[in-house]
Amino acid sequence: MGDPAVVKIFDTTLRDGEQSPGATLTTAEKLQVAQQLGRLNVDIIEAGFPAASPGDLAAVKEIARSVRGVAIAGLARAFKGDIDAAWEAVCDAELPVIHVFLATSDIHLQHKLCISREEALARVRTMVAYARNLCPTIEFSAEDATRSDRDYLCQVFEAAIQAGATTVNVPDTVGYTFPHEYEALFRMLRERVPGMEQVTLSAHCHDDLGMATANTLAAIKGGARQVEVTVNGLGERAGNTALEEVVMALRTRPDTFGGVDTHINAQELLATSQLVSKLTGILVQPNKAIVGMNAFAHEAGIHQDGMLKNRTTYEIMTPQSVGWNDTNLVLGKHSGRHGLDARLRKLGHKLNAEQLQSAYGRFVALADQKKNINDADLVYIIESGQETP
Ligand code: KIV
Ligand code: ZN
Repeated sequence: MGDPAVVKIFDTTLRDGEQSPGATLTTAEKLQVAQQLGRLNVDIIEAGFPAASPGDLAAVKEIARSVRGVAIAGLARAFKGDIDAAWEAVCDAELPVIHVFLATSDIHLQHKLCISREEALARVRTMVAYARNLCPTIEFSAEDATRSDRDYLCQVFEAAIQAGATTVNVPDTVGYTFPHEYEALFRMLRERVPGMEQVTLSAHCHDDLGMATANTLAAIKGGARQVEVTVNGLGERAGNTALEEVVMALRTRPDTFGGVDTHINAQELLATSQLVSKLTGILVQPNKAIVGMNAFAHEAGIHQDGMLKNRTTYEIMTPQSVGWNDTNLVLGKHSGRHGLDARLRKLGHKLNAEQLQSAYGRFVALADQKKNINDADLVYIIESGQETP
C-alpha cells in the first residue's frame, strides 16, 4: 500500500486536463509538460488516453520512453483494444501503469453503457485480470463512484482487487459529493472491502460545485493515499482538483492531516502553472490560490502595514516556497502611507514626515484616477512635489 505518511500525486493534466475545451497539446508540448512534472516530482503522470487517437498513443509512448524516474499511466476503457493500446503506449516506461475504468452508477450503466450491474461486474473481473497479465501496476477506477450504490461499489472494488488491481480509485466524476460524505465513503470502503489494505486507495474529484480541493482533502482524512489532480485545476467542465492547492494545504496545515505529505518540490509550482497556462492558452485567474498573480499581492493600507511589520499577519506561506520571487505590495487607492514610504525607499527616496504627507496627498489624488500606481508614477509624484527655484 506504500508509506501511510505519504500521499502520492497522480497528475492527470495531460489526460483529464487536456479534456478541457481548447486545451489540446502537441506531442512536443506534452513532452515539455511531462518533463516539468518530473521536476515538480509528481509520483505518476497520466500521459493520455492511447486508444483515443493515434496522436495520443504516440504522445504517451514518447513520454514513457523519455521521462524517467516517474510512473507513466495510460487510460483505458474496460475493453481489450483500449488496454492493448495503453500497454503499447506505456510498456517502455520505467514504471508503467495501465488505468482501467468502468462506470458503476445506475445512471451510467442504464443510460450510457446499457448493461446490467452483473455484466459490469463481470467485465471488471475479466478486464482488470487481462490488464494485470500485461502490466504489474494496474489502477481501476469506478467512474461516477459517488453516485453509485454503496453495496455494489464494494462488490466492484472487491472484484477489481481480486483480479489484480494495485490501486483503486473513487472518482467524483461529476463534482457531486460533499467533503463529509466523501470522507465517510473512504472510511466505509476501507472497513468493508476485503483486500483494501493491500492496495492504494485513490481520490479523483471534479469542481462542478467548487469543492474539488475540499473533497480531495476530506478523502485524505478518510484514508486516501493517492490523489488525482491537475495543474491549475484544468479539466472537463469546471475542472479537476488543483494540484497546487492540495499540496500546499497539506504543507500549511500538517496538524490537520496527521503530518501526511507529498513528494512535491513546491518551489516548482509556479513554473509548472505558467508553463501549462502558456502551452494550453488557458489563463490562470488572478485570484487563483497559490499561482494566481494576486495570490501574494496586497493593496489595502491596513494589510500592507501589517505585512511590513510582520509578513505572517497576512500570508500563510511564503511566496518563495511556491516559486514566486517575493510578495507584491501593490500601490492603489486603498494603500496607506506605510506602503508608499516602503516603495519610495526601495526607489531610493527617503522622505521626512512632512514630505511623505505631501507626497501621500498627491498619490491618493492620482490613485483615484488610476487602477495601479507604478514606479514611473511615483517618480512623477516626487518630482511634482519638488519646489522649483
Ligand atoms: O472523472 C472520472 O471519472 C475520470 C475517470 C476516467 C477516472 O476521469
Ligand atoms: Zn475525471
